[in-house]
Amino acid sequence: MTTSNPSVLRDGLLAGKSAFITGGTSGINLGIACRFAQAGARVTILGRNPEKAQRAADEVRKFGPDVLALTADVRDYAALDAAIRTSVEKHGPIDILINGAAGNFPAPAVGISANGFKAVVDIDLLGTFNACRAAFEHLRKPGANVLSISATQGSVPTLAQVHACSAKAGVEMLTRVLALEWGPAGVRVNAIAPGGVEDTEGMRRLSGGSEESRKKGAETVPLKRFTTCAELAEVVLFLVSPAAAYIHGAVIPVDGGHAIAGFGTLPMGGG
Ligand code: COA
Repeated sequence: MTTSNPSVLRDGLLAGKSAFITGGTSGINLGIACRFAQAGARVTILGRNPEKAQRAADEVRKFGPDVLALTADVRDYAALDAAIRTSVEKHGPIDILINGAAGNFPAPAVGISANGFKAVVDIDLLGTFNACRAAFEHLRKPGANVLSISATQGSVPTLAQVHACSAKAGVEMLTRVLALEWGPAGVRVNAIAPGGVEDTEGMRRLSGGSEESRKKGAETVPLKRFTTCAELAEVVLFLVSPAAAYIHGAVIPVDGGHAIAGFGTLPMGGG
């Protein structure tokens, strides 16, 4: 895992802060965990697989010393609640909750069973609710941040993604409602909506697998490329920092303009 170097954000930005990151054992969320550790935070990463969680913790420790790896399925409220309590015992009240746990696969609606649809909605949406609900009493108030990882699917109808689109749309509305309810307690609640992210399980699953289809996909993005975990982690670090103190209830696209619905062609020679 690499982080953005040099960063425009100052060193030690999260010194003394405690972060709890669901799904923090891989991909975007592991990138966030590494960046937070580098910024001085005590970091708890939560995943389903103990060996994977330990390997991820070793990775995060390259960036900062206070790392805790815990295992629970975000669909299991009791297990998640216990993990949050363990984190609070070791690292103190939670300053930053990142809801990153997600599941996805490409399939048309008629190729998905009720259980397949439920699995994704349960991981993405119910899992986000569960983490928020269990964490609330342990959030530092005022001052805590809740940030959920949505996706362009939350607002853009996407073929073969009825389950993920439904789940992420729910995550985005949950973000707005919790912002209304928790803002008065001094808890900021936001989400980001990334498009394609290089070197992630999501990209492997959704890009069609081949290098050629990945390149073709990148060509459809106005910025002509997908993003990276390091680039996303920088945005997340900004959003949980005091520089973003008045950003609340927002779902921020971080997709190179991919979700913009645009029409038209440029005149000849227009770039
Ligand atoms: N197409 C259609 N249905 C699928 C599928 C696919 N490619 N992959 C899984 N399913 C269905 C299964 O058939 C099952 O339904 P069934 O019981 O009716 O047969 C249902 O989804 C649940 O699958 P299961 O593997 O038992 O669930 P799980 O809870 O262990 O896993 C998933 C959840 C399916 C989301 C799994 O892909 C996962 O764990 N993903 C995590 C990693 C990930 O997706 N990363 C990318 C994030 S963007």
